[in-house]
Order: sequence, then structure tokens, then C-alpha cells
Amino acid sequence: MTDDIFPAFDSSQSTNIRTLEAATPTPPNGQPSHTPDPNTIFPIHGLDTLTFIKPSLTNPNIIAGDFSYYSGQDFESRVTHHYPFNGDRLIIGKFCQIGAGVEFVMNGANHQMNSITTYPFFIFDGWNAPTPKPQDLPLKGDTVIGSDVWIGQNVTVLPGVHVGDGAIIGLNSTVTRDIPPYTIVAGNPARIIRKRFDDEMIALLERLKWWDKDIHEIKTLIPILTCPDILRAKHELKIYMGLQ
Ligand SMILES: CC(C)(COP(=O)(O)OP(=O)(O)OC[C@H]1O[C@@H](n2cnc3c(N)ncnc32)[C@H](O)[C@@H]1OP(=O)(O)O)[C@@H](O)C(=O)NCCC(=O)NCCS
Repeated sequence: MTDDIFPAFDSSQSTNIRTLEAATPTPPNGQPSHTPDPNTIFPIHGLDTLTFIKPSLTNPNIIAGDFSYYSGQDFESRVTHHYPFNGDRLIIGKFCQIGAGVEFVMNGANHQMNSITTYPFFIFDGWNAPTPKPQDLPLKGDTVIGSDVWIGQNVTVLPGVHVGDGAIIGLNSTVTRDIPPYTIVAGNPARIIRKRFDDEMIALLERLKWWDKDIHEIKTLIPILTCPDILRAKHELKIYMGLQ
């Protein structure tokens, strides 16, 4: 039987990566076909409203992996209250999809709360107020976003949150707590809607970490990664990973 999703091979037979490679066009000179450039700021020809984050960065405390994009310009302006003296970092993995209007609120947003007033006298000229000790501030550490995370538009992510690989955050959500891998959350505060896959599949994907593969290998994996038949994709992944 010919298969629409995996056209290069017979679905009744076991598959391996060589079969998938056969489905990837190779030019006559034997060189791998064209691959996208993760270092270009505008990766879609003629469109300046979607940017790859990594090449647009100037702040050393914001780190992003290849191919993660923001639906807009000036991603750094979406990272707020981010002061070098706090040393907190925003770390984003690879292949993340970040919607317009997202805001990453960093630790500088949180005022001292273990005192009578929360007013930050120390930041203003003239009061001569002591700078609070780090332990007196509610510092939550780095904000860490995994890989292949889809963040809907106008989401707000609070300081110190860790978002697992493959998670989905619904639009307008406020993320206050860590999100496990391959989990869909939404709302204010964001709550779990459901897991995307069964535990076995999630474990496989966390082991595979496809986003860390060589770009040519990722290209050959695209038929599996985009297959809407998850049972079939799981089967093919197990073969590819030598588990079946
Ligand atoms: C989260 C999302 C992906 C939908 O996921 P889904 O699994 O299909 O969710 P459903 O529509 O079946 O909704 C499941 C539940 O979550 C709730 N829900 C879904 N999205 C929500 C959101 N953004 N905020 C609050 N609740 C939400 C639904 O009301 C529903 O609740 P119920 O079970 O009590 O009725 C989608 O709602 C979303 O937010 N997409 C982001 C789109 C975007 O921002 N795109 C910009 C370009 S990147």
C-alpha cells in the first residue's frame, strides 16, 4: 500500500532512516539539498513580521537556540524588568514558536515583600536607602523554555518558570508555575488542559531530542515529526531509535 505521509516506502514494511533519506531530494552534485539558515533574522522571504530570535539578540542574558522564532520584531523588548545586577537569564531552546505580544517578566519585577513597604526606595536618587540583600528579594532564578515549545500570543511568563520541551501554552495565559514536557496549559493562572501524548511517547521524544540532531537528519525526520497518525509516528520512531 502506498502511504501519503511516508511516500518513499511501503507502510507494511519496517522503516529505517535510510528509507526516509531516500525521500529527501538530493541534487545531482551529491550535496545535501538547501537548508534554512538559523542565523538570518527574517527567515521568510518578504516578511518582516516574523524573526528568528537567536540572531536578533544583543543581551548576553538572553539565550535562544536555532530556529526559535517570534511573531514580531524586537524580541528583546518582550523581556521586561531584566536588569544585569540580578543576573537572571532567559534561556529558550530550539524550534520554539513564540506568538506576538508574549512577555517574559524577569526577576527585577518583584519587589521586596518581607518589609513594611514594597516601595523600592533604593532605586531612586536622594533617599539613600540601602539596597536589599538578594535573600530579601523574591528572586526566582532563570526562566527556562525547552525546545519545540509553542507559546500562544499575549502569554505572560513569570520569573523563574521552567517550561518543558514540546509544551503548548494557550493564548492570553499567565504562566506562574513550571510546565511538564509535552503538556498543554492555558488560563490565568495557566492550568494543565491535557498531556499531548501518552507517557511512552513523551519518554521517547525526550530521549530522541530531535532538535539537537544535525540539520540534515532533522530534514529526513520531518515526515515522522509531522505525521498526524501518532501511533504510526511512534512505531517509526522506535524503529529509527533501534528500539524495535
Ligand atoms: C490551547 C490551544 C492550542 C487549544 O488547545 P486544545 O487542546 O485544542 O484545547 P480545547 O480548545 O479543546 O480546549 C480545552 C479546554 O481548555 C480551555 N482553553 C483553551 N484555550 C484556552 C486559553 N487560551 N485560555 C483559557 N482556556 C483555554 C477551553 O475553554 C477548554 O476548557 P473546557 O474543557 O473547560 O471546556 C488554543 O486554545 C490556543 O491558545 N492556541 C494558541 C493560538 C495562538 O496564540 N496563536 C498565535 C500564533 S503562535
